[in-house]
Amino acid sequence: MAHPVPAQPTRANSVAFGPGTSASPGQQLHLRRPDDWHVHLRDGAMLQAVVAATARQFARAIVMPNLTPPVTTVAAAAAYRQRILAALGPETDQGFHPLMTAYLSETLDPGELVRGQAEGVFTAAKLYPAGATTNSAAGVRDLAAIGPVLETMERIGLPLLVHGEVTDPEVDIFDREAVFIERHLQPLLARYPGLKVVFEHITTAEAATFVAETGPQLAATITPHHLHINRNSLFAGGLRPDFYCLPIAKRERHRLALRRAATSGDPSFFLGTDSAPHRRQAKEASCGCAGIYNAPFAIESYAAVFEQEGALDKLEAFASDHGPRFYGLPPNRDTITLERQDPASEDAKTVPLTLELDSEAGAPLTLVPFHAGEALPWRLLA
Ligand code: DOR
Ligand code: ZN
Repeated sequence: MAHPVPAQPTRANSVAFGPGTSASPGQQLHLRRPDDWHVHLRDGAMLQAVVAATARQFARAIVMPNLTPPVTTVAAAAAYRQRILAALGPETDQGFHPLMTAYLSETLDPGELVRGQAEGVFTAAKLYPAGATTNSAAGVRDLAAIGPVLETMERIGLPLLVHGEVTDPEVDIFDREAVFIERHLQPLLARYPGLKVVFEHITTAEAATFVAETGPQLAATITPHHLHINRNSLFAGGLRPDFYCLPIAKRERHRLALRRAATSGDPSFFLGTDSAPHRRQAKEASCGCAGIYNAPFAIESYAAVFEQEGALDKLEAFASDHGPRFYGLPPNRDTITLERQDPASEDAKTVPLTLELDSEAGAPLTLVPFHAGEALPWRLLA
């Protein structure tokens, strides 16, 4: 499949940070403004609290539809987009474009997707296997039940975004992604060879290899947290609910494979934070929610990884070029600037331990951000 947007030349000031080079405090890194190809912006008070963090860094974001009730119609998605823009207010909404997704259910009429795409509302549709994660109960139990929907998406060129985990309780939670590839993803790609598919938030070496070896029909997003933590992190010094997300973090060898994939320059891999905020009380509970809130420091988090891998020269492609190319959208024109700091210095800026966010509903809204208490090497300048 031809990529509609040609590759953009790498910026000269990024080339300075090529393999083997490292940055010193005060040095700047200019990047084409990135997009977030997978984010949960929620609704109501939570939306008000979190949306600005995403809009500050990213020009566009693929917004997940797993609200209650899920976003299954053009009208619901259009109204949700309005609420997102309203939450940003007139000063900030100019440059930020939420890209809306439809939540696939077994009762969805394919005509709804055709209309939603034609009206410029739907950019993609999301497949949640029923029971796989937060608000997925109305998702898909049997892929055969959405055959006409998938045929329609293939025909009209609407990308399918997949939460790639089997829900079979017999399958160990750490194996659910790898088993999904064999049982569902491989047959799906073969059955609908013209369907563009994004394997979201991949967490395993098996997924990284599968995506790299499959043609341009398939791409994958990689989160910052799966590049930083492994499954040991969940139990480091005690139970760490802030590192619990789905798909769950895997063994170290998988984290290293994801780092290689993200920094490889392969256009099949691009940025998708899967930032998924839950109130602190809902995370630190006897049955805590899955999701990591990484939005406020997302690009800094990725930059730390790319620097550690000696691949800062590949960050712009991963964050700003590969996603639009896959979706057939133009790359952004403006830029962001990151500045190197010495994380060990006394005046290094650190990620707050908690974020107390204003809630119009009145109830305090406390979120624990990813990297809480850490100083990251790169800071996004305003
Ligand atoms: O950890 C997760 N949280 N994974 C998902 O797939 C959904 C998300 C959420 O919506 O909280
Ligand atoms: Zn997600």
